[in-house]
Amino acid sequence: MKAGPETRAEEEDPMLVRDLMSAPAQTCGAEETLSGAAEAMRRAEIGSVIVVGDGKVAGILTERDLLRAAAAGVEPGAEPVRLWMTANPDVLGPEEDAGAAWTSLSHHHYRHLPVVEHEQLIGVVSIRDLFGAASLRPAGEHAADAPKGLEGVVVATTTIGDVRGREGFYHYRQYSAVDLAASRTFEDVWYLLFNGELPDLDQARAFAAETRSLRSLPDGLATVLPSIALAGTPLDVLRTGVSLFGAELGWQPISDGDVETVRSEALRLAAAVPTILATAYRIRNGLDPVAPRDDLPFASNYLWMLSGEAPDPAHARAIDQYLIIATDHGFNASTFTARVITSTQADLAAAICGAIGALSGPLHGGAPSRALDMLDAIKTPENAEPWLRSAVEHNERLMGFGHRVYKTEDPRSTFLRNVAQSLGGPLVGFAKTVEEIAVRVLAELKPGRELYTNVEFFAGVVMHSCGVPREMFTPTFAAARTVGWTVNVLEQMADNRLIRPTARYVGPPPPQPVPPT
Ligand SMILES: CC(C)(COP(=O)(O)OP(=O)(O)OC[C@H]1O[C@@H](n2cnc3c(N)ncnc32)[C@H](O)[C@@H]1OP(=O)(O)O)[C@@H](O)C(=O)NCCC(=O)NCCS
Repeated sequence: MKAGPETRAEEEDPMLVRDLMSAPAQTCGAEETLSGAAEAMRRAEIGSVIVVGDGKVAGILTERDLLRAAAAGVEPGAEPVRLWMTANPDVLGPEEDAGAAWTSLSHHHYRHLPVVEHEQLIGVVSIRDLFGAASLRPAGEHAADAPKGLEGVVVATTTIGDVRGREGFYHYRQYSAVDLAASRTFEDVWYLLFNGELPDLDQARAFAAETRSLRSLPDGLATVLPSIALAGTPLDVLRTGVSLFGAELGWQPISDGDVETVRSEALRLAAAVPTILATAYRIRNGLDPVAPRDDLPFASNYLWMLSGEAPDPAHARAIDQYLIIATDHGFNASTFTARVITSTQADLAAAICGAIGALSGPLHGGAPSRALDMLDAIKTPENAEPWLRSAVEHNERLMGFGHRVYKTEDPRSTFLRNVAQSLGGPLVGFAKTVEEIAVRVLAELKPGRELYTNVEFFAGVVMHSCGVPREMFTPTFAAARTVGWTVNVLEQMADNRLIRPTARYVGPPPPQPVPPT
């Protein structure tokens, strides 16, 4: 027997077998006994020995072979290795690259391969070497680490829109979303996202007629909503409602090329989500549901269904603008979730249920009501500085501040601040005071992080000013985002490949023997 292994893990590019093999390899002769070989493996804490004769590789004996021998009931002190080894195993050359080693090991389900140069054994490569020294991963030869949170990683191409964090700009199909919010209606933007271009007057009229006729709920869902409306949050109810919606309408797994079916489903769902939400809200609050109206635009109809009263035009327009601002926003967590689910060819309802789940988290869409809760907790302008300072010093997150992509003011926040200001009311002035102090406190206590208000801060203020109840803030966000999600579903299915990344295993080295019970 030779001495224990010594791992060579030099940093070279490309990584070669020579750089990651263990050398010298643990060896034994073909006529040695299984117990001798097992003892050598145990001492060296490795899972195989290379069987040699005249320095040449004759075979390989692994822990699996020992287990097979034990199961067969042989006497390990007398049994020669020759009878249990794999004779003439595949070997690697030292100058082969690490990818080749991985391919050989994974394709043949080997755990170890001898490394041979000029017919002489010079080392051994194990799966463990590949994981540890070569930092390769089981996804294949070309696996690469992505930064935590996938920050900055491009995972798809899209023609839907783009977010430019440094510029503080985002667009829908090349039009600034903020400019669209200033001059167009939510229905126009919905049309733009679905069809790739803004509608002319006739197209807008036809699209409005088509989508307004889709607002009512299927009978089964309308019957079930009263019994689920009180469970959980309104967003929970929406998630369940969307699931039932798809099930009742018999939506099928997405199949390649059937874009028209999914397009119809997408329009129907986005048209009906406000109805699910408003119906659930009213039932939760002991009120009779209000049926949708097909003579009102999207936002006005939503406010009508929530309150049962004709909305103030200024409020309807403010909500319309908020919905435009919130329709889509790059590869955010919920959109990515919808695309991942679509990539499995699951049905549209499954993709949107998953997206709603992702949106519900406070780090994503769950912030606007929490931002308003924060204003409530601060209470007075005088209390803002000490309250915010203490929160940041205690490592709490200020809701409505910070963004993964924007490292300057979020353009949605700038726009909604103006909308809030035009609506007026006491909350707006207070919110602006808190914003100013929060940005200053964050700059001082979290220098270099570039933390400003995000969409959620003034979204809460706008919705509050328009009479949208606080519990409906994130659900209203979901109503707008359903359009963005469904457009992303359509784009994903048009050029699909299963989204299936991988993770680096960093636990104790496998395989470990399973302890007896
Ligand atoms: C949106 C958000 C999740 C982005 O997070 P991210 O890009 O992953 O940023 P990180 O979590 O890596 O944070 C970076 C640093 O900024 C700090 N930070 C980020 N947002 C903060 C906030 N709102 N309040 C206080 N500190 C914040 C973090 O504590 C961290 O500080 P550290 O370097 O001392 O650890 C994050 O800014 C946040 O939690 N905001 C509050 C929730 C919110 O408004 N969500 C709605 C998003 S539209």
